[in-house]
Amino acid sequence: MRPLAFVTGGSSGIGFELAQQLAQHGHDVVISGRADRVHDAAAALRGHGGEAWAVQVDLGTHEGVEEFWSFVAGLERPLEVACLNVGIGIGGAFADADLDAELELIAVNVTGTVHLAKRVVHAMLPQGRGRILVTSSISALQPTPYETVYGPSKAFGFSFAESLREELRESGISVTALLPGATNSEFHHTAGMDDTVFGDDSWKNDQAEVARQGYEALMRGDDHVIGGDDATRQQVEENRELTEVQKAEKHAAMARPS
Ligand SMILES: NC(=O)c1ccc[n+]([C@@H]2O[C@H](COP(=O)([O-])OP(=O)(O)OC[C@H]3O[C@@H](n4cnc5c(N)ncnc54)[C@H](OP(=O)(O)O)[C@@H]3O)[C@@H](O)[C@H]2O)c1
Repeated sequence: MRPLAFVTGGSSGIGFELAQQLAQHGHDVVISGRADRVHDAAAALRGHGGEAWAVQVDLGTHEGVEEFWSFVAGLERPLEVACLNVGIGIGGAFADADLDAELELIAVNVTGTVHLAKRVVHAMLPQGRGRILVTSSISALQPTPYETVYGPSKAFGFSFAESLREELRESGISVTALLPGATNSEFHHTAGMDDTVFGDDSWKNDQAEVARQGYEALMRGDDHVIGGDDATRQQVEENRELTEVQKAEKHAAMARPS
């Protein structure tokens, strides 16, 4: 039987490409998405010769996370790979942004990740094996003005992954954080950032390449990997030399609406 994996936010972008990597490398894959298109995405994944299931749920709600987990657990197979990838962004000044939208971001990116990780860890511990990927961001490494709630949510994901990894070190379960640089998915458009430097797809990383890097780091059991090209890795290195104030100024210049 093919190993079982899941990818949240697997209907598009980096998540769909992660699911493609897993399907191409012999996994059966469960994906989640909030919109109808998650069913088409699952159908495309079946083209790799394995099984793929779509679960259409809102992972920003307690019930949605439980429904997704019930589906995975209901397959009654060992869960080998869990990609906690779903995430949303919100651009614009904090003073202007809608509070409910910001709380929804925290519900999806932070609360939902913790909730699902709890179910995953409890399932994998008795197996004595498993691989967990948390999609964070290079935003985790810097202040993110004009994405003032998003960046901290990704910093949570990075720290959560590194912390959990250490706790699970002797358990046979690896935890890997994927930190993509800006990537050419729908993410910035959905976040309302078309009128920023991030609205221009031409310079951004390729979502398939970012997912390939994430998949390979996951399979090696690395603690984290930067997702993207040489320029992205260089940006991370250069940022190490800057103060938080300097990094904030730099990010503001790119994320501020024009
Ligand atoms: N793109 C970037 O520049 C970038 C950089 C660093 C990190 N990241 C991270 O990478 C991850 C994937 O982002 P992406 O760039 O691939 O974005 P994307 O193309 O916008 O994909 C987001 C995915 O999440 C799903 N989704 C959104 N809200 C949901 C909800 N409430 N419940 C269930 N599913 C929901 C979407 O499903 P439907 O729309 O089909 O419902 C879609 O499958 C995120 O964690 C993001 O923070 C992205």
